[in-house]
Amino acid sequence: MSAARLLLAIESSCDETAAAVVDVDTGAVRSSVVHSQVDAHARFGGVVPELASREHLSRIDDVVVRALRDAGIGAADLHAVAATYGPGLIGALLVGLTYGKALAQGLAVPFVGVHHIEGHLMAACANDDVAQRPAPPYIGLVVSGGHTALYRFEGVGKATLVGQTRDDAAGECFDKTAKLLGLGYPGGALIDRLAQRGDASRIAMPRSLRDRSHFDYSFSGLKTAVRTWVEAYRARTGADVAGQDLCDLCAAVQLAIVDMLLHKAILACRRLQVPRLVLGGGVAANSLLRSEAVKRGADNDVEVIVPPRALCTDNAVMIAMAGRALLLEGRHSPLSLVAGADVPVEGASAARQPRP
Ligand code: KG4
Ligand code: ZN
Repeated sequence: MSAARLLLAIESSCDETAAAVVDVDTGAVRSSVVHSQVDAHARFGGVVPELASREHLSRIDDVVVRALRDAGIGAADLHAVAATYGPGLIGALLVGLTYGKALAQGLAVPFVGVHHIEGHLMAACANDDVAQRPAPPYIGLVVSGGHTALYRFEGVGKATLVGQTRDDAAGECFDKTAKLLGLGYPGGALIDRLAQRGDASRIAMPRSLRDRSHFDYSFSGLKTAVRTWVEAYRARTGADVAGQDLCDLCAAVQLAIVDMLLHKAILACRRLQVPRLVLGGGVAANSLLRSEAVKRGADNDVEVIVPPRALCTDNAVMIAMAGRALLLEGRHSPLSLVAGADVPVEGASAARQPRP
């Protein structure tokens, strides 16, 4: 039997340094290593771009070596290398992209550049059960600290934006609420946990852009409403929001975000006649979003696919899933591919060419 064709994928667009090895032909995941930089950025209350670049630089070798070791292979066993080329923090992207291109060149194997959003859109494909991998077309809701958008996904290189936030990302709304409440960073998971003990109906929070004429979002109104509510609470009680009130507030904010996200996502599935919704991005790790998406999908004849939590936050398995699909189509990228902080998903196919 011939040796498996193995792909090493690298992700470094924000504050996770990640590497994974997958089998190109079967899609089986052989290893996945994620180094989170949360501790390095926590005391600043958010990601510091220059710090992120330096952290990636100091960690990438170790992360790649661990991914190869966990897969039980050496670099010489690789068939191809993939890396995220954008969008993201430019200095952070440069580390993983340059490492990936250099490794591919050194090994004389194909290199393939992956758009970070295509990775999130394909994270759910990392399933050993082939029947459970979502088949395009589907609507992808990608919701993280930097992105909140809906895409029509027809296949890798064939994604189109159908709606997006006009101001803050949903993850940013979680994080800023947590910061205002003194809960720490990143705030999404902390709010998720507190909300489980809260009663959302005790505090009214607004929903923006409910109209059905487009698929865009807005979260700045909610952010202002939370600030106003917290300031009024402090003025009235002379104390910070705590105890049951804190849990109720977290539940109310979480429900408002989830409501807005799913209202437009389900609307897009129905209007565009694509009855399949796939979630991705760090906020897709949220318990309420995960359960409500499945429930509201069932109520509206929309099939909902939610990746495991570890594949929602940034990781390299999702980059490998997109990279493998490109390799199977015979596509790769020139080593002249440059990193882009703000590259649209529609331009992703220009980053690749048919293999000569
Ligand atoms: O995709 P990701 O790891 O990185 C970005 O590209 O931003 O997403 C990080 C975001 C943060 O805003 C974080 O607060 C949010 O995902 N997040 C959550 C949960 N876990 C992570 N938000 C809500 N509930 C969660 N359980
Ligand atoms: Zn991401």
